[in-house]
Amino acid sequence: MEILDGKKISEQIKEEIAQEVSAMKERGEKVPHLAAVLVGNDGASLTYVGSKVRSCEKIGFESTLVSLPDTTTEEELLVKIKELNEDASIDGFIVQLPLPKHIDEQKVLMAIDPDKDVDGFHPTNFGKMALELETFIPATPFGILELLKRYNVETSGKNTVVIGRSHIVGRPMSILMSRKGFPGDSTVTLTHSRTKDLKAFTKDADIVITALGSPDFLKADMVKDGVVIIDVGITRVPDETKPKGYRITGDVDFEEVAPKASYITPVPGGVGPMTIAMLLKNTLLARERHNAK
Ligand code: GUN
Repeated sequence: MEILDGKKISEQIKEEIAQEVSAMKERGEKVPHLAAVLVGNDGASLTYVGSKVRSCEKIGFESTLVSLPDTTTEEELLVKIKELNEDASIDGFIVQLPLPKHIDEQKVLMAIDPDKDVDGFHPTNFGKMALELETFIPATPFGILELLKRYNVETSGKNTVVIGRSHIVGRPMSILMSRKGFPGDSTVTLTHSRTKDLKAFTKDADIVITALGSPDFLKADMVKDGVVIIDVGITRVPDETKPKGYRITGDVDFEEVAPKASYITPVPGGVGPMTIAMLLKNTLLARERHNAK
């Protein structure tokens, strides 16, 4: 069993990006600039956005945090997005999800200029991804591909089962694993809450990608020997023994499943850190693409 060490690989990727930024500076070029929009004060979102902004600073990017109150109207948010679209100093930006219930998420995502949509959530970018055209691949799926690539995990001709059909992880992951090339060329089954007899699918899978948000859901009797496990779950489970009063738990019962796996991502330290690294990668790509125009 080998651990797919997302923490280590994400550090490598950030180091590679930092070197590229230094080279840009030496050439007298503008460095990448990422903006993040946060509406309201959801605990997890605050943590994620804070960590995105800090990572930008570490690797030499410029960053802007746009923090709006949870009383912000949809119209006000759309005005802010228009400003960011038109601000030539900003290469890419994200609107942290989830948004407060009174705001139409799809409408907001569609207002983002696809050339600045470093989350890859705009229908134009999502469509390009499905058609194997140049685009921004959503950061979490992009991070998973990069992990599989750097550990040289065989995906061609394998049975890949994705659990969960979210727009951010499950759905794009199912498309990406079936694309031509490496990582890809998998035979993909996208399972979800209405799937009957999930175990029949996971037992037959060479690769299982879980994006459910259900702690310790995947058990040893649900997978076969030699399976590759990618755990995208990050649920805060109350735990009084921890300083923060909670611990982060994945979708996979790691203790049980790891001995059967050929490769497995831990939680924390697996997919999570890769997400931020790939958001930074997309921002670098945005800068380079704007330069090339
Ligand atoms: N909420 C959870 N994951 C993400 C992400 O990758 N991007 C944004 N914008 N919001 C999220």
